[in-house]
Amino acid sequence: MKITLQPVTAANWRELIKLKVRDDQAHFVASNVHSIAESQFGFEDEGHWNISPFGIYADNEAVGFLMYATNLGHSRIQVFIQRLMVDEKFQGKGYGRQAMQVMLGTIRGEERIRNVAISYEPDNRSAKSLYASLGFKETGEMAGDELLAVLNLR
Ligand SMILES: CC(C)(COP(=O)(O)OP(=O)(O)OC[C@H]1O[C@@H](n2cnc3c(N)ncnc32)[C@H](O)[C@@H]1OP(=O)(O)O)[C@@H](O)C(=O)NCCC(=O)NCCS
Repeated sequence: MKITLQPVTAANWRELIKLKVRDDQAHFVASNVHSIAESQFGFEDEGHWNISPFGIYADNEAVGFLMYATNLGHSRIQVFIQRLMVDEKFQGKGYGRQAMQVMLGTIRGEERIRNVAISYEPDNRSAKSLYASLGFKETGEMAGDELLAVLNLR
């Protein structure tokens, strides 16, 4: 099974908005249709962040969604991972981890990216353990009501 990240396009957004997390996880992540709208029209406090939304594919099947924002000129955080979800039918198979590894592998080559950040709700144990195992360290700061964790690449 090969995990790839494929940009959201006119051809695939409909299959990506069908992907859902479990009802008890719904408060951890925005719907994919909401995220795709944000990727197109931005965040109110966006500044100069460039937003990249992707479908997570296992071979040719859409299984999840990942979105990150890049600002190469930012002094502290150059990439912020804004969304990660794997559809409830496909969780626990390693797809979330592999999607993160693919994404980090892609950005590692860009020398200007020194720190990658992510945030998650304090009670999201799956997310917390996944990001910690990839090297993200909590900074003790909050991003809204979420814990902020940072991965130092260089
Ligand atoms: C978090 C999420 C993306 C993980 O995707 P996944 O494909 O199910 O995860 P994987 O199978 O790749 O597992 C990766 C790691 O996640 C953690 N994890 C996954 N399910 C877990 C569970 N039920 N309990 C604790 N940790 C869990 C583990 O660290 C696991 O690593 P391991 O298998 O080596 O123990 C997925 O559970 C999800 O979409 N959750 C709802 C939305 C969400 O919370 N998104 C993150 C917002 S910050």
